[in-house]
Amino acid sequence: MPPRPYVLLSCATSADGYLDDASPERLILSGPADLDRVDEVRAGCDAILVGAQTVRADNPRLLIRDPRRIARRAARGLPAHPARVTLTATGDLDPGARFFAPGALRLVYCATPALSLAAKIKDSAVLIDAGDPVSADFMLQDLAERGVARLLVEGGARVLGDFLAAGRADELNLAVAPFFLGDPAPATAPRLNLPAPIPASPMTLAETRRVGEVALLRYLLGPGGPDHRFLRWAVELSRLCPPSDSAFSVGAVIVGEDGEVLATGFSREQEDHDHAEEVALRKLAQGKPGPDPRLRHATLYSSLVPCGARASRPVTCVAHVVAAGIPRVVFAWREPRLFTDGEGAEQLRAAGVAVTEVPELAERARAVNAHLVGTGA
Ligand SMILES: NC(=O)c1ccc[n+]([C@@H]2O[C@H](COP(=O)([O-])OP(=O)(O)OC[C@H]3O[C@@H](n4cnc5c(N)ncnc54)[C@H](OP(=O)(O)O)[C@@H]3O)[C@@H](O)[C@H]2O)c1
Repeated sequence: MPPRPYVLLSCATSADGYLDDASPERLILSGPADLDRVDEVRAGCDAILVGAQTVRADNPRLLIRDPRRIARRAARGLPAHPARVTLTATGDLDPGARFFAPGALRLVYCATPALSLAAKIKDSAVLIDAGDPVSADFMLQDLAERGVARLLVEGGARVLGDFLAAGRADELNLAVAPFFLGDPAPATAPRLNLPAPIPASPMTLAETRRVGEVALLRYLLGPGGPDHRFLRWAVELSRLCPPSDSAFSVGAVIVGEDGEVLATGFSREQEDHDHAEEVALRKLAQGKPGPDPRLRHATLYSSLVPCGARASRPVTCVAHVVAAGIPRVVFAWREPRLFTDGEGAEQLRAAGVAVTEVPELAERARAVNAHLVGTGA
């Protein structure tokens, strides 16, 4: 069975946490720069999920806007636009909504008792009996079997809250607008109100960025604490690699002692033979006379063990890691003997680097390379 999709929650809120106001018009929270950022995020996903109430209230198109991003998807063999996904308990959906317009696959997960009411959208979407009540785990497994590896959940409040409360989110991109909605806020305005207490483990802050007038907070979630979360993120970065039939697709994240992300990289990000670790280290070295001193206390997360032998260039990633003075490496997948015989983990340990293998994430890292190593174990 394919691993369940990586679930990325994305939303914009006012500074006091509202996703919308109570007026019939949609509240504009993002500016052009942030809408462009969301377009980029969408382009990197296989499917976009919104709740049925968002389909009814906002009538979103859920399309990629930038033709260059559509072209990039085509080059990677992906459809022009991600699939559109919604879920409903009532079946109350209008087949005239933009969600059902051609241009992308449409999937509707419907509670069993509402199937007959939802039959009106049967000619415009794939209508899926998702049980009673609708099971999020069934939906995620079904999406995985349909080839969805990366799912973007764009709201609304109930859907976001349910994913957070159920512990089914891997990442949250929260864009905070530079204004309050006001107090007293309208009682009916949706906000990130979780239906049940969520597990106590705090989220892992991976990025803060100014995007126009909006503050973007990128949090990593999910089980296993920071090590597993950063490693899952490294695996996601590997999906961005330009395709190759003769080299693995790998993602890497370097994190400082205080949890700050120092650099990220993925295979072939800058040059043809680039390895992910090499790119991340190169970015950190730019314009500096010697290795960044923060590397002496950093952890390198890599979806594949750093290479200990290499055909494409003289210096292996193990040698790069050791030369940079990185004391700790966490990886998901041991390199299969496909291109070289390098024993990266053993070489790192022999050089005094602490190495942690997370075999639970190996299948995710391997699945990104299924075109090289097949779909078996
Ligand atoms: N600021 C942002 O980033 C952002 C993004 C998206 C939306 N929004 C806003 O959010 C508001 C909508 O949020 P909302 O919380 O009211 O609705 P929502 O989360 O969009 O949709 C809720 C609906 O989805 C269906 N649903 C959700 N979970 C389900 C489950 N487990 N089983 C079966 N059906 C399920 C139900 O549909 P049925 O009622 O058909 O049964 C439910 O009523 C709108 O005002 C929109 O503008 C804001």
